[in-house]
Amino acid sequence: MHIDIVTIFPDFFGVLDISLLGKARERGIIQLAVHDLRDFTYDRHRTVDDTPYGGGAGMVMRPEPWGEALDATLTPETVVIVPTPAGVPFTQAAARELANEKHLVFTCGRYEGIDQRVIDYAASTVRVREISLGDYVLNGGEVATMAMIEAIGRLVPGVIGNPESLTEESHEQGLLEYPSYTKPAIWRERSVPDVLLSGNHKAIADWRHEQQLERTRRVRPDLLADDQ
Ligand code: ADE
Repeated sequence: MHIDIVTIFPDFFGVLDISLLGKARERGIIQLAVHDLRDFTYDRHRTVDDTPYGGGAGMVMRPEPWGEALDATLTPETVVIVPTPAGVPFTQAAARELANEKHLVFTCGRYEGIDQRVIDYAASTVRVREISLGDYVLNGGEVATMAMIEAIGRLVPGVIGNPESLTEESHEQGLLEYPSYTKPAIWRERSVPDVLLSGNHKAIADWRHEQQLERTRRVRPDLLADDQ
């Protein structure tokens, strides 16, 4: 998978060199390039924003540098991802879908966002997804992009050594994950649930499923509302 990120804070993404995704990049499974939006400006001050037409607070990102950045990165296969609190909520299902794409371009807006014509223009040539991380406002798209790249990247085939570990985690079966325990069996007078020490695989699987249901009912009843 090829990922391009366009941002006015390229340094933000230095952490993508480390950890699991860093390894995936070293192994060539994921190719990632970070572009400074200001490199696509021509004025002395490398201006990327201006006041909004119609008035109002804040600044809007001007379309010209974004247009050039898109010209430099888009191919017919690209999916452009626009992180915005006004987008469709990001989910595990979306991460799984995007993990199958060949090329993603993340456009990190700042201030009051990017001139809407940029998004409309991109949507006239390639697929565009405006995606929100949640119902809260971040200062820009960088943190949201980082979160999405982590969620998507770990689902790209070959990135995680043991793909079985992916199928049992939260949100993969519409339920939250069961609680996990490791050694020692007793810690600060708290024991690991007996069933996990029983060696009875069926009993363990049943217990884990029950725990998933109980946790989901308690913490996220909205996940159960549709189909159970
Ligand atoms: N940019 C600012 N807030 C955001 C959010 N909640 N999700 C995605 N991108 C954002």
